[in-house]
Amino acid sequence: MNAIGLQNPGIDLFCERDIPYLKNFDTKIIVNVCGHAPEEYLAVVERLADEPIDMMEINISCPNVNAGFLAFGQDAHNVEKLTAQIKKIAKQPIIMKLTPNVTDITEIARAAEAGGADAVSLINTLTGMKIDINRKTFAVANKTGGVSGPIVKPVAVRMVYQVAQAVNIPIIGMGGISCAEDAIEFLLAGASAVSVGTANFHNPAVTLEVIDGIEAYMKKNGFENVKDMVGIVK
Ligand SMILES: Cc1cc2nc3c(=O)[nH]c(=O)nc-3n(C[C@H](O)[C@H](O)[C@H](O)COP(=O)(O)O)c2cc1C
Repeated sequence: MNAIGLQNPGIDLFCERDIPYLKNFDTKIIVNVCGHAPEEYLAVVERLADEPIDMMEINISCPNVNAGFLAFGQDAHNVEKLTAQIKKIAKQPIIMKLTPNVTDITEIARAAEAGGADAVSLINTLTGMKIDINRKTFAVANKTGGVSGPIVKPVAVRMVYQVAQAVNIPIIGMGGISCAEDAIEFLLAGASAVSVGTANFHNPAVTLEVIDGIEAYMKKNGFENVKDMVGIVK
């Protein structure tokens, strides 16, 4: 469980210092964008529009100061509106990153698709709490924290499956992936790509192991292309 906030050096330093550094590598650059009001998202997206990045992932788990601190991603109407506003100014494909802290994630995914999202990614962290029984107070000063890692995987796979039945845009699946077998579950449930977060903290080589493991699984099971595996579990 983490409550580290969303530390970053700010968009100006990111553009001046970090993008040139990232361009040294032969890879795609996806920038995760957050804000506390629609204007903040739009200002960052506009600033990034002409930068040499490949995609933007919009983190809508942040509280909206204009909507009583309800997260953007918890209100389908706000998700559709924000997605449409972002799509008007972005020059790169837009991935809307969904929060699992909702009653029906398919409703939110459909709203992102209706707003023009090019893809959705899910899941962000689940809101959790730990009480320190000896100090008799919250273990995390923020009271709540975001739960991630292996414990959330069954919830994430279920949500990816549900969203895959609900929308026609591609899904990036994540939540508790720590080995190739985990990643393959997400692909079979309907994700076109996967992402690994928490597992990197205890195994920095995890993404390479996941790639090799998917390849080995494909050879063993006669799949020529990852696309052939996506969503085959109905
Ligand atoms: C330390 C930490 C920092 C994170 N920061 C972000 C962030 O800045 N933006 C975001 O969209 N998600 C963020 N997340 C959520 C992850 O990207 C991911 O959606 C979630 O943790 C589930 O995947 P995992 O179990 O592989 O970590 C963060 C997660 C962790 C653990």
